[in-house]
Amino acid sequence: MKHTRWYKDRVFYQIWPRSFCDGNGDGIGDLWGVLEKLDYLKSLGIGGIWFSPLYPSPNADCGYDIADYMDISAEYGGMEAFEKVLEEAHKRDMKVIMDLVVNHTSDEHEWFQKSRRRIDPYTDYYIWRPAPENGKLPNNWDSHFEGKAWTWDEVRQEYYLHLFAVKQPDLNMDNHFVREEVKRILDFWLSKGVDGFREDVITFISKKEGLPNDPLMPSARGIRYYNHGPHLHEYLQEFKHEVLDNYDCMTIAEAPLVSPEKALEYVDESGTNEFDMMIQFQCMCANCLFLDFIPTPFSLRRLKHAFSNWQKKLNGRAWNLLYLENHDHPRVVSRYGSERFCVKSAKMLCASYMFQQGTPFVYQGQELGMTNWYPESIDAYEDVQTLNQHTDWPEEKRLKLYHRASRDSARTPMQWSAEENAGFTTGTPWLSVNENYTEINAAEQEQDQDSVLNFYRKAIDLRKRLSVVKNGEYREYMKFSGKVYMYTRREGRKTLLVVASYTEKAVKVRPALLTGLPEEFFDAKNCVLTNNSVNANGASFTMRPYEVRVYYSGNV
Ligand code: GLC
Ligand code: CA
Repeated sequence: MKHTRWYKDRVFYQIWPRSFCDGNGDGIGDLWGVLEKLDYLKSLGIGGIWFSPLYPSPNADCGYDIADYMDISAEYGGMEAFEKVLEEAHKRDMKVIMDLVVNHTSDEHEWFQKSRRRIDPYTDYYIWRPAPENGKLPNNWDSHFEGKAWTWDEVRQEYYLHLFAVKQPDLNMDNHFVREEVKRILDFWLSKGVDGFREDVITFISKKEGLPNDPLMPSARGIRYYNHGPHLHEYLQEFKHEVLDNYDCMTIAEAPLVSPEKALEYVDESGTNEFDMMIQFQCMCANCLFLDFIPTPFSLRRLKHAFSNWQKKLNGRAWNLLYLENHDHPRVVSRYGSERFCVKSAKMLCASYMFQQGTPFVYQGQELGMTNWYPESIDAYEDVQTLNQHTDWPEEKRLKLYHRASRDSARTPMQWSAEENAGFTTGTPWLSVNENYTEINAAEQEQDQDSVLNFYRKAIDLRKRLSVVKNGEYREYMKFSGKVYMYTRREGRKTLLVVASYTEKAVKVRPALLTGLPEEFFDAKNCVLTNNSVNANGASFTMRPYEVRVYYSGNV
């Protein structure tokens, strides 16, 4: 089937179902709630939805531990509600993509239950190892979430590998029966009308033969032996040629530790094109080292380097996935912007990424400028990754780190209104609502022309109307500035310029001088988007705290 690359003209929205909207009052977000909000998404200009996992799951990792790939969890409304959402989304010209989590399953999945009992054909569906004679574990790999990567199974009397939580055993992708299952899952959802997949840690699915000890890494031991493992391309080609190519669908790879050069092995449009886009992590690492739990001061230079590096290296060969937030990181206003200048910095961040080349993803609540969450006790946290960080530290120190780094900050209920529980539920929310919902919520922002929500609407609309955003050449200026991010997009006589300040201090900029654009380009009428209340005029100006200006002219 022809691959039309429809995703290049759309802006996506990520729904994290548990916290989006509760339709039946049990405190858990669900698909009935989503149904109520489709028009809201449409009014934002959204052309596609990525659903984090909706499948039946014991929720050891909020749905990323799947117990049945071919069904929808009853608490989310079951298959009937899903089919309705799919139909209604399509009616509104919104695509729907699912999360495909096949590096691991839940230990409650039937396959695992049979595998631990050595019932064929499931016996080798997972990665089992007998207990070594020296009393050690089968190797020294770390799990990303909970201690070591091996857990003893009393039933089978063997160890199983889990790169994530204990309740997330890794599948043995070298077993062709497992790959047949993956293809069945892909086909099941695509034939139902789903438009594609975001594939969870998909670059981890092929492990090096012999599962060798990792002599070097101080943490995340083993990752060199399973990230981009030996048979990865082979398996991806198999999924593509046997299933994905039969549909005009889109696939996205979540890919930790990937450089643009490496990414091209998968996303080059004239190469293997095993995926359409990649979720890279470099733009998530401007205030931490790889993990949010290893904090460093925010560095705008690092962020800009990540942005520009991907823009340049993929240019003409592959397509970028643009994002600033998802369910795995704290809120971007708190990370790269300023809670003090919450509204301004939320808008500035929006314009920073929205006009780059690629397909932007907006994560629920990002369009309102939702911020981090500061519960008073560790008991408020739910996330398995968070709760396993530094369990030996004193509570106060842990809490401080969790406030800064926990992904639960992005998982508190969506703030719909100033009503009780932020209008998310009439029951008791499964995770508490961020206290600032009386100030930050969708209902109030609907009424306010200058809200973050309306800024997102304008930015998305502009992006869709200006072909330069899709096609234009990207160029960065003031590369070494730790305060300002400035870039142009040019296509023939069309030029777009973004100037964004990442500081509370006033900064003087001279964009005309740097870009060679004529003075007239900086006429107030060409300032098509800004978070500054004063009308912009002049080719050099002083940026206020977290100010952003977007200029456009079709004639320079
Ligand atoms: C991915 C998901 C994350 C999950 C992990 C294990 O990184 O985005 O939420 O916890 O994989 O499935
Ligand atoms: Ca519910």
